[in-house]
Amino acid sequence: MTIFKGRPVSLLGSGIYVPEKVLTNYDLEKMVDTSDEWIRTRTGIVERRVAAEDQVTSDLAYLAAVEALKSASMSPEEIDMVIVATNTPDTIFPSVAAKVQGRLEAINAGASDIQSGCTSSVYALSFAAAGIASSIWDKVLVIGAEVLTKLLNWEDRATCVLFGDGAGAMVLGVSPDGKNKVISTSLKSDGTKSDLIILPGGLVECPASVEMIQKRLHTIHMKGSEVFKFVNKVLPLFLEQFCEESNLSLNDITWWIFHQANYRIIESVLRRLDVPVERAILNIDKYGNTSAASVFLAFHEALVDGKVKKGDKVIFVSFGSGMTYGATLMEI
Ligand code: ACO
Repeated sequence: MTIFKGRPVSLLGSGIYVPEKVLTNYDLEKMVDTSDEWIRTRTGIVERRVAAEDQVTSDLAYLAAVEALKSASMSPEEIDMVIVATNTPDTIFPSVAAKVQGRLEAINAGASDIQSGCTSSVYALSFAAAGIASSIWDKVLVIGAEVLTKLLNWEDRATCVLFGDGAGAMVLGVSPDGKNKVISTSLKSDGTKSDLIILPGGLVECPASVEMIQKRLHTIHMKGSEVFKFVNKVLPLFLEQFCEESNLSLNDITWWIFHQANYRIIESVLRRLDVPVERAILNIDKYGNTSAASVFLAFHEALVDGKVKKGDKVIFVSFGSGMTYGATLMEI
């Protein structure tokens, strides 16, 4: 089933945090054999943010969470669950969510991370909404936070130009007006393609060793053009079916908030759906691919800019390592 049943759920607040340091394509030209022109035309990225040396994912997540709670006019004690979507946890354990919950003093909340590639964002939103709809929680803090720049091989031009750091958060809760606004969700995975985006080293399969580090296996490896092809093949049909199952036509969607991985992917998926690209919220030029944080960043900025308005139907779409993909539909 795609449509949420049970108690009505809605968005109560949102916030973001991005690190101060900006790394432009021109800066990258001095680091690897690349050019502003190549990066811009192949991806749409112009610059990205880079976390400070002493900043980790939980720092970014905490700062975005504080903003989201402020916008929801809510104190941390009111939160029942903290869910952090991330692929760059500070450590494997404890979870980033537990650290954020502790730092916020969200004393009544549980805490857990979700790790499903860039789609972690949509997975986390869906789990939060499902928990509220089924009366397990009343208010959930959902955060997408990443410091991907710390896990890049800065000598590999095929990956290091793509990613950036940032965090975004949302508070979901029981709808104050009784109207269900987190309408539907669909979460998918094709694990036969699990080799397309990997960070192989440092854990169980390939434990830490000098050789592992020399081979840079502790950094992100991606078969970029295969990811590109997979997404273009799978996403249009998936989105068509998702909208149909949500009882909406593609034209009923006011804004498309895609995972900001590559402008060309967003443009070509929308072209296949016959939806004008002007209906997509885009900020990949400023932040690059921030993985599980990207849809939160794009949404919040569009809301603050007044682009996304109350009553708009907004679809969050993501895809990433796994290969996972999914979509969640909300009315704002
Ligand atoms: N600068 C200059 N040239 C480059 C660079 C660079 N930064 N990177 C690669 N190239 C070169 C390649 O070496 C290749 O050269 P060759 O033809 O001489 O061999 C040429 O550019 C073309 O390379 P492709 O990989 O075929 O380029 P493509 O057009 O596919 O673009 C890209 C690459 C941008 C990575 C694209 O494939 C893409 O965006 N894929 C999707 C990635 C993605 O969306 N990931 C999302 C999930 S991430 C997650 O879950 C953590």
